[in-house]
Amino acid sequence: MSKEKIIVITGAKGLLGKEFVNHCRSKGFRVIEADVKTETDLDNDQYQLDITNEESVETCIKAIVAKHGRIDGWVNNAYPRTADWGMPDADLPFESWRKNVDMHLNGYYLCCNKIIKQMKLQGFGSIVNLASIYGVQAPDFSIYEGTQMGNAIIYSAIKGGIVNLTRYLASANGQFGIRVNTVSPGGIFDNQNPSFVANYNKKVPLKRMGLPKDIAPSIAFLLSDDAAYITGHNLMVDGGWTIV
Ligand SMILES: NC(=O)c1ccc[n+]([C@@H]2O[C@H](COP(=O)([O-])OP(=O)(O)OC[C@H]3O[C@@H](n4cnc5c(N)ncnc54)[C@H](O)[C@@H]3O)[C@@H](O)[C@H]2O)c1
Repeated sequence: MSKEKIIVITGAKGLLGKEFVNHCRSKGFRVIEADVKTETDLDNDQYQLDITNEESVETCIKAIVAKHGRIDGWVNNAYPRTADWGMPDADLPFESWRKNVDMHLNGYYLCCNKIIKQMKLQGFGSIVNLASIYGVQAPDFSIYEGTQMGNAIIYSAIKGGIVNLTRYLASANGQFGIRVNTVSPGGIFDNQNPSFVANYNKKVPLKRMGLPKDIAPSIAFLLSDDAAYITGHNLMVDGGWTIV
C-alpha cells in the first residue's frame, strides 16, 4: 500500500474547495474531487456526489475504497442551499428553513456517519467539517448597512450544529483512531459590495477579508499526521474576527 493519503473533498468545485484541492495535492495527498457539479471518473479523481442522498454517499465511499483500498481523510465542504436561504428571519419560509437544515446539516451528518463506518473498519481516519465564524458568534448587522447584503439566520443554526456535532463525533470515535475537527473560516473576499468589504475590514484585527489560500493550509494540517493529537477542535481561521 502506498503511503500517499487518499483524501475526499466534498464541494470541491466551489470557491474554497478548488483551493483545498490544489493545496492538498501540493502537499502530496491524492485528492478525489467530490461534487454534484462533476462527472464520476475515478481515474481522474472525480466523483459526482450528492451529500444529501444516502445512496450517493454510500456508493461514493464504496467506489473509492474499491479503487484505493481506504480513505484516509474526508472534508465536508459542500454548500447546498435553497435560492432563498439568505432571506431575513421574518421572511424565510419555514419550508426553506427545513430544506436547508436537511441539505446542509443533515448532509454533513450523513457523510460523517457513513465515512466513520469505513474508518472504523480501517482503524484510522481524519474528518474535517467546514463551519464558520457564524457557528460561534452572532452577526453584527451594521456591516451590511447601505448594501443589499444580509446574514442568513439558517446559517448560524446549521454551522453551530456542525461545530458541536464535530465534538460529539470526536469524543465517540477517538477510541477507533478517528479524528474529527472543524475549520471555521471568516468571511472570504469574493468581490462583495465595497462598502461591506470596508466595514468588514475595519472590524477584523488583520484588517482584511480572508482568501481561499488563507484557509487551505488548516485543512491540510488537520488531515495530516502532524495533527495526530488534535481532535474535536474548532480551528478559527478568521484574521482574529472572533477575538474582539
Ligand atoms: N465563502 C465564505 O465566505 C465562507 C466562509 C465561511 C465558511 N464557508 C463554508 O465553506 C464551505 C464552502 O463554501 P464556498 O464558499 O466554497 O461555497 P461554494 O458555493 O463556492 O461551493 C460549494 C460547492 O458545493 C457543491 N455542492 C452543493 N450542493 C452539493 C451537494 N448536495 N452535494 C455535493 N456537492 C454540493 C457546489 O456544486 C459547489 O461546488 C461551506 O461549508 C461554507 O459554509 C464559506
